[in-house]
Amino acid sequence: MKLFTALLIAAASSVYAQTACNGDSSLCSKTYNSVTYLTTHNSYGFQSNAAGNQHYPIATQLTDGVRGLKLSAVQGNQSGVIELCHTSCTLLDAGTASNTLASIASWLEANPNEVVTIMWNNLGNFPISAFQSAYSSGGSIMNYVYTQPVGSLTWPTLQSMISSGKRLVNFIDTGADQTSVPWLMSEFDYVFETPYDNQNLTAFTCTIDRPTNPTSPNSMMYVMNHFLYGVVNFGGTAIEVPQPDSANVTNGDSLQTQATQCTSTFGRQPNFIEVDFYEQGSCFQVVDSLNNVAYVSKALGTAAATATGKTTINNGASASTAFSYLTLFGLVLGSLFVSL
Ligand SMILES: *[C@@H]1O[C@H](CO)[C@@H](O)[C@H](O)[C@H]1NC(C)=O
Ligand SMILES: *[C@@H]1O[C@H](CO)[C@@H](O)[C@H](O)[C@H]1NC(C)=O
Ligand SMILES: *[C@@H]1O[C@H](CO)[C@@H](O)[C@H](O)[C@H]1NC(C)=O
Repeated sequence: MKLFTALLIAAASSVYAQTACNGDSSLCSKTYNSVTYLTTHNSYGFQSNAAGNQHYPIATQLTDGVRGLKLSAVQGNQSGVIELCHTSCTLLDAGTASNTLASIASWLEANPNEVVTIMWNNLGNFPISAFQSAYSSGGSIMNYVYTQPVGSLTWPTLQSMISSGKRLVNFIDTGADQTSVPWLMSEFDYVFETPYDNQNLTAFTCTIDRPTNPTSPNSMMYVMNHFLYGVVNFGGTAIEVPQPDSANVTNGDSLQTQATQCTSTFGRQPNFIEVDFYEQGSCFQVVDSLNNVAYVSKALGTAAATATGKTTINNGASASTAFSYLTLFGLVLGSLFVSL
């Protein structure tokens, strides 16, 4: 009888102790590379600005369920210091990388059962030491960085990452040096991406765009890019800008269609579904369905941003959604321009 009671108590407490991993207990035993993460394109670019790809700050995105962040490293005001800017800091300046990293660290600290991924676009060609110093001054972020052995495509389970506390995975597209900074991993050794430069719903494909010749396309993870650019003709120059007004359609049925197609083409679900204006359409329904977890409807964009999540706004909320034509024009004249 005593033994029976003890067993009952043990069983009850183990049920009680069972925690969710990234929101659902069924994900705990899944490996990091067999889960789909909703990922925001230019996550830091939430300012009211024609170049903005998001409407809400990173802390709000994370609270809503975004688990992948794409960040661009650009040279801003201080030499050698990484700022989060869209193509150029004149156009959209979200402040220093260390400020945003500190805000991500605070969020991780408050949410101990979540695994998050950061993917850097090293636009400014910074040496890896600049990233190391941004992270070192990014609050407690270094406590969370996960290190995958070089070249290994065998990933741990979410539960093991959560238990170890090392639950922030960091990739960079160019300039990785895993000998000196092992936790900042070379994205294209582990992940490939589908094409990102799409202008209409029929353009999305499930082909490998980057890297050109992936080493192990059958075992790497992949980013499914699903956001659209619109073309604005500016004095004879075509400029590509994000499309907030049609994001509900882009992130609707079209998202599920491409996810289904890529799952079939590559023989596995996408790992990172990268979108603009993530609160539009049915992003979380698509991701939950791929992860085989129940979708629970909730209000998005309502979580308060933490003080550390605040950023410098160049073209400002005060300018509402106004296009900064002068800035765009200056950039075009300066030939700095590519896609926003
Ligand atoms: C960079 O300098 C400009 C002009 O002085 C200023 O408006 C902006 O706030 C600065 N950005 C940062 C991140 O300090
Ligand atoms: C859709 O986009 C693709 C590639 O971006 C382009 O080739 C095609 O012409 C576009 N179709 C329409 C109707 O704009
Ligand atoms: C998308 O939003 C537009 C404008 O708000 C609306 O007219 C349209 O019905 C929406 N489409 C979907 C699929 O929700």
